[in-house]
Amino acid sequence: MEEKVITETKEAVSMPRLGEPAPTFEATTTQGVVRLEDFKGSWLILFSHPADFTPVCTTEFIGFAEIYPELKRRGVELLGLSVDSVSSHIAWVRNIEEKMRIKIPFPVIADLDKKVATLYGMIHPGESRTETARCVFVIDPEGILRAMIYYPLTTGRNMQEILRLIDALQTTDKHKVATPANWKPGEAVIVPPPKTQEMAEQRLKEGYECKDWYFCKKKL
Ligand code: BEZ
Repeated sequence: MEEKVITETKEAVSMPRLGEPAPTFEATTTQGVVRLEDFKGSWLILFSHPADFTPVCTTEFIGFAEIYPELKRRGVELLGLSVDSVSSHIAWVRNIEEKMRIKIPFPVIADLDKKVATLYGMIHPGESRTETARCVFVIDPEGILRAMIYYPLTTGRNMQEILRLIDALQTTDKHKVATPANWKPGEAVIVPPPKTQEMAEQRLKEGYECKDWYFCKKKL
């Protein structure tokens, strides 16, 4: 059989992994130099956008600024990133404030050399070789990467989903439970599956709301 010649070379995108320490970095931002270590002890959302002075990104920056007080209330810091310069970021956030009357309260990394973007797998050449995709990384107070969201260039992210994700992670940590599809704060949570037959029988007597031995919910 004739050997197939591979003509397309795919660049490997190195991706960080959930449950592992988030890659460390030091970067220049609109509010000075920041290091990942500076955020130890609080939750951090690191997010990327493709480019300054573009419409979808502008709606997202407004969205992030609007949920900023809600994030702070949950102990979450916010850090933006694109491969644009600090001067470009400053001009853009000033434009948003002047034209849309929204102040951008969070720092934005100027990742001109793509160092942070490469560490976090933010550049997906199939989407864009030069711009970062719309990525969200949730890093916990111990510096562990807890969640990642990747969106294409053409789709603006849902801010309520980002808040919901933070609520779910914090609820999971506090109560050692899991959260079902479409869960919202105040709704019943999932009791983790039993590890032994004895625990399976026991849980049916706990007063949980059970569909079966493996599928029980409880109100917090
Ligand atoms: C935007 O933010 O509008 C955008 C940026 C890059 C590609 C497509 C849209």
